[in-house]
Parts: sequence; structure tokens; C-alpha cells
Amino acid sequence: MAQHKNNTLYLVANWKMNPTTYKQAESLAQKTVHGIGGGAQDTIFDSRINVVICPPFPYVSIVSDVSKDVDVGAQNCFYEDAGAYTGEVSSRMLKSMGCSYCIVGHSERRAMGETNGMVNKKVLALLQEGMRPIIAVGEHTRKADNGTVMVDPMIKRQITDALAGVNERQAKRVIIAYEPVWAIGTGQSADPDDILTVRIFIQKTLHTLYGQAGIAIPILYGGSTDSNNAVVLLKNTGMRGLLVGGASVKEDAKEFIAMYATIQQELL
Ligand code: 13P
Repeated sequence: MAQHKNNTLYLVANWKMNPTTYKQAESLAQKTVHGIGGGAQDTIFDSRINVVICPPFPYVSIVSDVSKDVDVGAQNCFYEDAGAYTGEVSSRMLKSMGCSYCIVGHSERRAMGETNGMVNKKVLALLQEGMRPIIAVGEHTRKADNGTVMVDPMIKRQITDALAGVNERQAKRVIIAYEPVWAIGTGQSADPDDILTVRIFIQKTLHTLYGQAGIAIPILYGGSTDSNNAVVLLKNTGMRGLLVGGASVKEDAKEFIAMYATIQQELL
């Protein structure tokens, strides 16, 4: 895992179930790395932006082989180490393939039956392996009350349940991703003011659990991010990065590369 300072921004690509073939994944990984490195032979990455690519399981080694400057994450894991669990992949397997991050509790997985209890077991398994869980949380519907956004108390539950049994030392490796479900893949990102409100709410929840160490836990935003809104979504929201879906796989990663460049040029 690349070493980063406390104020590092995270640009995390969630490829979801894309692209369609191994060859296309090789090409996408190479183009992403090449584009971010500015086309240089030996890619020179900005140490202030931590790029993490989370491909589908079969493509993990492609990404870990393509560059040492990007970190590799998975999109899910199972909480047992080994055994009769057909179709599952353990955090230990992922670690041994070069993954240092793993998204857990993504809303698309919660919709397929992943519960807060399962998310918690996965978080504990990942931390046991020294990996960094990216815990995805977020409300289903956009709520407004006289123009003021009400933070859904479900978010607090998702966080406290996911972190049950996680001690302060382990919590330093945790990342929270706020992804309002209604903003995912809809082209409708949340308003920066609302993101700020939710960020403070999440930080208070983490402070209650871990004190100062809780405040230091990075919180990312995800949901219809692209190169046009990346800076706006980060600038006054206190978010420490973005979890990017569609824009990370579109047009040979052109959008993702453009997001990296605009953050670098306009924010840092
Ligand atoms: P989009 O960026 O496609 O809205 O997806 C966000 C997401 O779900 C990332 O995990």
C-alpha cells in the first residue's frame, strides 16, 4: 500500500461489473494509469492523491500488475478465511493478490441482501488482514424539510453497526463513503451544502465512537461524480475524496483521468 499523509485525497474507482472481458480490463487499467501519469513512461503520480482501483475479482491481478502507484481494492469479500463457501472470496485471498482496500456495504450489495451485521463481519475480517475497508453508507431517498436536508438516522446505524468491535487503533484504517442511493448512476449528484451537513453528522458519529481518532477517519462522497463536479463536490464539503462509478470506466477512463487532473490543478 502506498504511504500517504493525513491530508491525502482519495480518488477511488469502482468499476462495478465492468468491463466485459479480460482484454478490455487490461486496456482500461493501462489507459487509466498512463493517463493519470500524464503519459510518462515511468508514471509520476501526485502523492497528494491516492488512486485506488476496485475491479471485479477476476481482474484484480491485472490492476496490481499494471503499476505500483495505484492501490488495488475489491468490491466485496467474505468474512471467513476458508472452507465450504462456494462462490465466496476471502479477505486473505484478496490480500495475497495485492488488494489493500475493499468496498463493503455498497448499496448495490445491500440490495442483494447484505445486512449491517454482514458488513460488520467483513470489516473485521479485512482489518484482521491489515486491509482498509471502505464502508459505503447512504440514504435511499432525497429528503427535504423546508429546504433543509434532514440527515437520515439510518446512516448512523449503518456506521455504528459496521464498526461494532473495531478498536481505535483499527479504526485508523477505516474509510467511510457517503453514497446517497438516489444519486448513484442517476446523473444527479448531491448538493455540496447537503454533503457538508451529512459529513458533519458522520464525523460526529465517528467522534462519539473514537474521539479524536474518529474525526481523522476519511469520509468520501460517491454518486454521479464526474470531471465537471469533482472539485465542487470536494471544495467546501470537507470530503476527503470521491468514490467514482460510471466515470471510472467510461471512454477508456477519460473522465476519471480528467477528474484526477482537475482535482490536482484546481484543489491542491
Ligand atoms: P456512479 O458514479 O456511477 O453514480 O456510481 C457511484 C458508485 O456507486 C460508486 O461506488
